[in-house]
Amino acid sequence: MSRKKIALIGGGQIGGVLAQLIALKELADIVLFDIVEDMPQGKTLDIAEASRVDGFDVSLSGTNDYKDMAGSDLVIITAGLPRKPGMSRDDLLTTNAKIMKQVAEGVGENAPNAFVIVISNPLDAMVTLFQKVSGIPHHKVMGQAGVLDSSRFSTFIAWELGLSVKDVNAMVLGGHGDTMVPLVRYANVNGVPVTELLELKYEGDKEKAKEVMDAMVQRTKVAGGEVVKLLKTGSAFYSPASSAVAMAESILKDQKRLLPTCAFCEGQYGLDGFYLGVPAVLGANGVEKVIELSLDETEKSMLENSVNAVKNVVGDMERLGF
Ligand code: APR
Repeated sequence: MSRKKIALIGGGQIGGVLAQLIALKELADIVLFDIVEDMPQGKTLDIAEASRVDGFDVSLSGTNDYKDMAGSDLVIITAGLPRKPGMSRDDLLTTNAKIMKQVAEGVGENAPNAFVIVISNPLDAMVTLFQKVSGIPHHKVMGQAGVLDSSRFSTFIAWELGLSVKDVNAMVLGGHGDTMVPLVRYANVNGVPVTELLELKYEGDKEKAKEVMDAMVQRTKVAGGEVVKLLKTGSAFYSPASSAVAMAESILKDQKRLLPTCAFCEGQYGLDGFYLGVPAVLGANGVEKVIELSLDETEKSMLENSVNAVKNVVGDMERLGF
């Protein structure tokens, strides 16, 4: 069986970690593309030179030419500016939309059969634009946000309960912004509801348990900003890269994992013709199915709020002529 090929568009902070993780997992051969001359060549050379130490057999190359992505099975896009302290993801709209348009033309022309995972922000708008310009079918084009938002939520839950994060399952739906919807009701540790574990911890004090849960939900919503504030010169890069690799692996190995994905909705959650963070099955056909969970009234209204926020950014983008 020949090896798979992944093209990474954007060789910055996330792009570099993506290349290293994919190599370590021997998931695919890697082509790292950037507009900056020599930099992607330097990064891939550096990673390749660790192959003996880490023991991986994949080929890594850097390029400034879109043609080198021909034949890619999957493309991950991180081209674009990251946030600086005080900026929202939406503040990146104009700059990153210009970049995304170019990228979508390049990918659409040179790797039209690839699956595509977009990471660039503002995520929901960038996925929408990429799909429109590239013409690659909706089920093959998706965005990474929910896997990371859910991992952040799970991490906070594990820290709070003093339990292994490996057993925590928590999902975040909606847009990749401050209106995202961490699903408290479904959060569990090996099947045991987190709400119940919190009440045990706080000896039946329901109010305290709710207060602690609310604080974790709030921290999850602004977790990206928390990292930006500390880094000062850019945004999170290790965790977004890990999250996109989990999605790529599920597709390339046909694992059929149920992952929160920025996927195209066709009637689900009352949305038609619209990208949003929803639980989706990722396998050999890309987004194979969007799962429609039953939501209570509060969750529904939070999701509606998130949908409106996403619609606003996408609308702004269209008004800007993209
Ligand atoms: N084509 C390809 N690459 C481009 C283009 C373009 N037209 N314009 C810029 N780039 C490259 C930059 O040269 C840079 O190397 O995109 C890379 C972005 O890397 P970083 O600035 O390090 O940003 P990173 O932290 O990797 O985040 C990338 O993902 O999470 C989002 O908000 C984040 O939008 C940002 C993106």
